[in-house]
Amino acid sequence: MHKNRIRVGMIGYKFMGKAHSHAYRDLPFFFDTEAVPVQQAVAGRDRIGVEKAAKQLGWASFETDWRRLLERDDIDLIDIVTPNNLHAEIAVAAAEAGKHVVCEKPLAMTVDQARRMAEAVHKAGTVHMFCHNYRFAPAVQFAKKLIDEGRLGRIYHIRGQYLQDWIMDPQFPLVWRQRKEMTGSGALGDIGAHMLDLARFLVGEFADVVGMMETFIKKRPVGEMSGGLNARADGGKMGDVDVDDASAFMARFENGALGVFEATRFAGGNRNGNRFEINGEKGSIRWDLENMNDLEVYLEEDEAGLQGFRTVNCTEEEHPYAGAYWPPGHIIGYEHTFINLFSELMNGIAGGYSPSPNFEDGLRNQMVLEAVEKSAQSGKWIRVSDLKPVSHY
Ligand SMILES: NC(=O)c1ccc[n+]([C@@H]2O[C@H](COP(=O)([O-])OP(=O)(O)OC[C@H]3O[C@@H](n4cnc5c(N)ncnc54)[C@H](O)[C@@H]3O)[C@@H](O)[C@H]2O)c1
Repeated sequence: MHKNRIRVGMIGYKFMGKAHSHAYRDLPFFFDTEAVPVQQAVAGRDRIGVEKAAKQLGWASFETDWRRLLERDDIDLIDIVTPNNLHAEIAVAAAEAGKHVVCEKPLAMTVDQARRMAEAVHKAGTVHMFCHNYRFAPAVQFAKKLIDEGRLGRIYHIRGQYLQDWIMDPQFPLVWRQRKEMTGSGALGDIGAHMLDLARFLVGEFADVVGMMETFIKKRPVGEMSGGLNARADGGKMGDVDVDDASAFMARFENGALGVFEATRFAGGNRNGNRFEINGEKGSIRWDLENMNDLEVYLEEDEAGLQGFRTVNCTEEEHPYAGAYWPPGHIIGYEHTFINLFSELMNGIAGGYSPSPNFEDGLRNQMVLEAVEKSAQSGKWIRVSDLKPVSHY
């Protein structure tokens, strides 16, 4: 059968640009999706840089202004992998141009922006998703299955940590990720966003939060990202850091569960420690991205004397997405979470629906992020639903 070809126009081409390009290329190798992506065009501002990226990452053409992608009839899906300050402008314009949209996280910098984005895709009737890729690790999906089947019973606790250390050196340059006007918030919106998305996915909706935020290094040499999480300084000039280096918050969930969360770029020795533990009345689970194929499971129904956490290597047919890859025990990695996410996106476009996490999820996540910020400013508990914006759809 001739498959539906979804012609992608991607904006930006560094860290996430590479991860997304790789996922588009590998998707048809592993998944028999209803539609297949075609790497039609990539956009950047610098002609030499974008031309080189197009060649290396496998794009058929390039543009030096992202707006050109929206005018092209041969583009069906716009993929936004730019810094956060451009997400809302591009997504709204893409929806108005009748394109499907996939956007990196956090969806926006404010609740107001996220609401406008959700309204735009809703009005356009196009398919939308945003990239909380960690939901798509087989072990995380298996954790969700255990919870949904009631294997853990009522959920009492979630403990989430997202710990990094890449900006601990005070000489690490001031890049877009530490400038409020380009990023919205620091550790909170960047890595805390993943953590709270996992919490919404696995436990449910947040009711109230109380939080704190801290900036340990207040001035840094001005510079720019150079790929991955590397950066180079532009010269001797110093600039002010106006976002958080670290954030922590507590939460009550609508279903009565309690949450304790920590997102920091100052946890020395933790390169990318994205972890959670969930405790329910009948069992507990633990996951850590740095051993992402494994899920630790404790079930109270186990025989007395043999009770304890067991490590399940989630590479069997029974583990969501794992069967698409290799035989059991032949592990997968970070990049596969994007392939799994895009398999859902392709099926969504073919079927005319927007798989979760979509822009509605993005709006809900943004409400939690903004509630934590408001709490850190006021020192008070904030009810997340108080941030619910007026809905026009
Ligand atoms: N899902 C994840 O695990 C994950 C990981 C890292 C980053 N992200 C998110 O992905 C997005 C991009 O982050 P990154 O790490 O790839 O950043 P990056 O700095 O590596 O790359 C950003 C890209 O956007 C381009 N860009 C900036 N302004 C532009 C403009 N006006 N027109 C066209 N291109 C422009 C830059 O040239 C660069 O190619 C951010 O929203 C970030 O939060 C997600």
